[in-house]
Amino acid sequence: MQLALSTWHEVEDYLRASRGIIIPIGATEQHGPNGLIGTDHLDAEFVAKGVGDETGALVAPTLTIGMSQHHLGFTGTITLRPSTLIAVVNDVVTSLIRHGFERFLFINGHGGNVATVSAAFDEIYASVSMRPPAETWPVRCRMVFWFQGKQCSALRKQLYGDAEGSHATPSEVSLAQFYHPQAIKHAQMSPKVAPRSDRFSDAADYRRRYPDGRIGSDPSLSSPDDGERLYKAAVADMAELYRAFLAN
Ligand code: NI
Repeated sequence: MQLALSTWHEVEDYLRASRGIIIPIGATEQHGPNGLIGTDHLDAEFVAKGVGDETGALVAPTLTIGMSQHHLGFTGTITLRPSTLIAVVNDVVTSLIRHGFERFLFINGHGGNVATVSAAFDEIYASVSMRPPAETWPVRCRMVFWFQGKQCSALRKQLYGDAEGSHATPSEVSLAQFYHPQAIKHAQMSPKVAPRSDRFSDAADYRRRYPDGRIGSDPSLSSPDDGERLYKAAVADMAELYRAFLAN
């Protein structure tokens, strides 16, 4: 069930049965020679909608722009500053709290969002903790990567091994290819597997270390058939995780 395709009466009815909501979050940033700029938010949205179908969960509109300052050296990237993204997440969650939502599962497609969204969750919790007198508060926020569950992690390893890398990965490109087959791109990778390291600072530093945008990956291995397998594994993993999250 998608919030954007529901009426307010339907959302009221939903809240009588469940207090949970899934919020897809990603980024709008370069994804190497054959990856779409929207990869991170498209993948998060695709899996989130699948989990919504599987569990009956309400799925919020996708937060399509994330914290991507380090990708600004590549044309087409759009970023929010950390302070802006903290404010966006805080306002989205606080709006939904007003209606009675209590469990917020963010399904994430972008590593650069982790520190900032964690800080936003701390802002949300702090605003309650600092309110006198202390009150019990049932709101819980959690963020997970769409690919981090057991089945999907095992499949990524089986399909791509070390060529999975950590940015512009064959798994995230495959999933986007299955979601939008009309937008599949092909490109030569040189070197075949991109350089890897987990250290970078600003956009110029990132571009110098990773000239075509990839980190440690070979996304020429991507295929929409792999994307279909990854989709099924990710939806199963995330549905299980969502049910467990609602239960405690
Ligand atoms: Ni990505």
